[in-house]
Parts: sequence; structure tokens; C-alpha cells
Amino acid sequence: MKTIGVLTSGGDAPGMNAAIRAVVRTAIYNDMKVLGIRRGYNGLIYGDLREMNIASVGDIIHRGGTILHTYRSDEFKTPEGMKKAKNIIEIFGIEGVVVLGGDGTFRGALDLSRMGIPTIGIPCTIDNDINCTDYTIGFDTATNTVVDAINKIRDTVTSHQRANVIEVMGRGRGDIALYTGVAGGAEHIIMPEVPFDINDLCKRLIQGKDRGKRSHIIMLAESMFDVNELCKEIEDKTGIETRATVLGHIQRGGSPTVADRILASRMGYHAVKLLKEGIGNRLVCIRNNQITDCDIEEGLAMQKEFDQELYEISKVLSI
Ligand code: F6P
Repeated sequence: MKTIGVLTSGGDAPGMNAAIRAVVRTAIYNDMKVLGIRRGYNGLIYGDLREMNIASVGDIIHRGGTILHTYRSDEFKTPEGMKKAKNIIEIFGIEGVVVLGGDGTFRGALDLSRMGIPTIGIPCTIDNDINCTDYTIGFDTATNTVVDAINKIRDTVTSHQRANVIEVMGRGRGDIALYTGVAGGAEHIIMPEVPFDINDLCKRLIQGKDRGKRSHIIMLAESMFDVNELCKEIEDKTGIETRATVLGHIQRGGSPTVADRILASRMGYHAVKLLKEGIGNRLVCIRNNQITDCDIEEGLAMQKEFDQELYEISKVLSI
């Protein structure tokens, strides 16, 4: 394989740039030409590509976001869009593609593979919701950002003896709420994988208050409840003044942590190694700290239980 393309698609994640750097430098080291495809699959449809060299990925390992920019392309899902993309792939002589992103990105990777283009997916999303891998690139940085915010929020919560409901992202997955709830010492974690009982929450908050607790942090995974209504209900039922914090896109930005930079470097290196061997249609994963890969369709169909034990630990430690 002599020429490969690399693109980032879907929501950006800290560590994407470190992964792009690993892909580009591993490919050049192996005498391959690399084309950077801009704005996700749209770059393939409209021919927005440029050759990358060693210097084009210099000074980016520590930067959040993605230098290739990203996009959620609906056009690529249509037969016309895919035809245009195939045409561009042929014109530019692209023999393999590495795509960085989440679930939606990998459905596009599957389409490319089915068109006969060897394609490798690298899981990059703050949500940690790709079931074939223990961790996705970006999750560690995002959770560190959230914990930093919890620490700050707790200062003011304690000063006022209030409760604060902190809404975090996750797109239907509670990993961000769970990990940050444990690491930030939250009193309660509300996540989609666990049934929620407001009366139980309020009982525990009152018990805590009666014991002299001065701060109450409640983690809430997004899209479950209206956070302001939830705060009002808690306040009405407990008499504890309750504020809401929606962290939003701050969770997606920032310089990647060491863990994300290492994961990105290992995964980017592995992706190019696969293409060099002529292997496509794979998702790169990390399992038990070993970098491995699996079939894209199988990887997308996999189910993963949430960390029930960690949730139990959070309940014990927040008594
Ligand atoms: O998938 C990453 C993510 O940040 C989710 O946690 C969130 O639900 C979604 O993307 C937000 O997407 P957008 O930036 O398009 O609003």
C-alpha cells in the first residue's frame, strides 16, 4: 500500500491530533504517502484533501480538537454521496483509509470497506461508548476536565451548604457521570444504566444534612431529565438549596492527558501497521492494556455491561 487517507468525523475528542500525528508519522516512516482529508467524510465527497508531511503534524500532540476539522456528514450516507467519495478515492489513488471517531464514523468505515477500500477505525469519543474497546481516546481527558470542575463547584457548594446537580455529556452512556462521580466524591450518580428513584436520593440527602454534611454533589448524565426541574424537585423535597451546572462542550476541549496521548499514539501506530499488511475492515481496540483489533461489523454489534462494581463502590463511599 503506497497512499492512505486519514480523516476525523463526528464529535471531536482530545487526543485526536495525537492519533493523526501517529498515523502520519508511522505511514511516512513506512514510505507511505498520507493525504489528510478535511471535514470528515465531506472531505472525501468534495475532494478536500492535502498531502501531509512530518512537519504538518508537528506541534499538535498537546492540542485538543482536530487539525483536520470534523463534520457529521449526512450526504455520505446516501448512494450519491458514496459514489462521489469513491470517485475522489480513485482520482487521488487512495488505497486505504484511517477514520477517527465514534459509532457513526465507524458505520461510514463499514460502507467504505464494503466498497472494497481497506478501512481502519480508531475510537475517539469522550463518551467511551464504543463497546469493543475498554477505553476510547478522549475519555480520560474529558473526565479529568469534569473532575477539575467538580473540585471548583464543591468549594462554593460547601460555602453555601447547598446541593449542586452537575450535568455531564455521554450520549446515552453513563461512563462520564460514573467515573467522575467516583473520582470527584459525588454523593449521588444518576446514569441511564441504573433506575433512578428521586425519593431515595432525597432521603440520602436529608440523612447527610442531618449528619452535618455541608456539600452535596449529584452527577447527572445528559438527556435523562431537565436539570433545572430536577433541582427544583430536590429543593422542594429536602429543603436543601440546589443549583444546576451544565458543563457542556468544555468537556470536549483542552490539552489531552498523558493517558490519551499514549493511547492515541499506540492506536495510530497499530492502524497503519494493519494497512501496511494489507488488512482492512478493522476497528482498533484496547483490551486489558493490549492494543488489538476486531472486525468493524462485529465491533459495532458488541454489547458491554457498564461497571456495576464501580457504581456499587460509589454508593458505599458516598454514605
Ligand atoms: O459524542 C460526543 C458528544 O459530546 C456527546 O457527549 C454529546 O451528546 C454530543 O457529542 C454533542 O454533540 P454536538 O457537539 O453536535 O452538540
